[in-house]
Amino acid sequence: EHLNATGLHLLPGAIDAHVHFREPGYTHKEDWETGTASAAMGGVTTVFEMPNTNPPTGTPDALRRKLDAAEKAYVDFGIYGLLAEDNLAHLESLIEGGVAAFKCFMGNTFGNLPSPSTGAMLEGFEIIAPHGLRISLHAETASIMAHRQTRLRAAGRSDPLAHLASRPAIVAVEAVSRAAVLAEWTGARIHVLHISSGDELAPLRAAKDRGVDITGETCPHYLLFDEHAYARMGSLIRVNPPVRELHHQQALWRGLADGTIDMIATDHAPHTTDEKLVPDIWNADCGFTGVETQMPLMLTQVAAGRLSLCDYVRLSAVAPARAFGLYPRKGALVPGADADIAVVDLARRGVIEAARLASRGNITPFEGTEVTGLPVHTLVRGAFVMRDRQLVTARKGHGRSVRRVQSMPEPVLRHADQSLAAVTSVRL
Ligand code: NCD
Ligand code: ZN
Ligand code: ZN
Repeated sequence: EHLNATGLHLLPGAIDAHVHFREPGYTHKEDWETGTASAAMGGVTTVFEMPNTNPPTGTPDALRRKLDAAEKAYVDFGIYGLLAEDNLAHLESLIEGGVAAFKCFMGNTFGNLPSPSTGAMLEGFEIIAPHGLRISLHAETASIMAHRQTRLRAAGRSDPLAHLASRPAIVAVEAVSRAAVLAEWTGARIHVLHISSGDELAPLRAAKDRGVDITGETCPHYLLFDEHAYARMGSLIRVNPPVRELHHQQALWRGLADGTIDMIATDHAPHTTDEKLVPDIWNADCGFTGVETQMPLMLTQVAAGRLSLCDYVRLSAVAPARAFGLYPRKGALVPGADADIAVVDLARRGVIEAARLASRGNITPFEGTEVTGLPVHTLVRGAFVMRDRQLVTARKGHGRSVRRVQSMPEPVLRHADQSLAAVTSVRL
């Protein structure tokens, strides 16, 4: 197959370490076909999918059901296993079953999975640490939020800003600090999901400086919105953790620039319009679609000079590959050897419209946003899954499960890691 890509750029396909594809359990919001189609349309070649489905991915049985659902995938995927209070006995078998990483909900969010006690977290970290799989944290402390929310409701607050008031940054600071202590104690690798505040950067940086294997991500909505979004968008902007004040947004950009924040993920959390646009903020589902809009939104920041293309590649692909151990296999140490590629037109303009996204989630806070820079082709392991901005429907089921490479000898792993670090974009 020949492709004229003159003037286009080849980028490593984005690796989105944080998506919710809702199947099994909530397929009216999304399923593995629509979710991975959305990824393919967005230049994303690998996703890590979260366990707050129904059933949650906390038992070998639930993992099998998820892997069955994922057989429809267009792009490659890692499955998150759940680390919870009541499934410590299942962690080893989840690892044997092929999970790529673990997810621990320290605070409550969509799906209402109870957060584990610190004792259960410690034991879970001890079990997982020797296997090297990273544990990703929804780092918000449940008890602080519950207390705040009760106070706000008693005071009659149900406006959009009440959501922000219920989750002040200390909620995340406390959780990141505590998780880092547990990781340091056990040697577990951890990852801080959806960093929303400048305040979390101090405990994250401090843990890195102490030698804890900790990484962090932020998301486009925290980089591109601030507290004014609440008056403009109402319950649509409700997301956990909340979009915060401008000074936090600015600190996140600094965190990306100085390497404290390692990567960009989307927290793709599709819901329907009916579930989002409700009068009482406490009844609005949290989150929104994102896997398809990340690349256009961030390439627009590249076009605006706020981010270099090289940094974008590091944040969207290289850092997640290193953090989650997705090294090329079979001795092929050339990064991109398996040809997960986004071919992008950095000058192409477009407008984000929820109705035209491949995701089933039909609402986005970026509705009407003009973008400059679009993926035009997406290749997964050398095969087109999106071509000329069209989904290649024949590739449904092409996606494969990925997991951390563990068996490489240390020097080989170091070499692979160095060559991954050298990955960049190519202009044709
Ligand atoms: C996510 C969801 O809907 O699954 N919602 C959200 O607001 N981010 C869950 C989560 O990541 O906390
Ligand atoms: Zn979360
Ligand atoms: Zn999430």
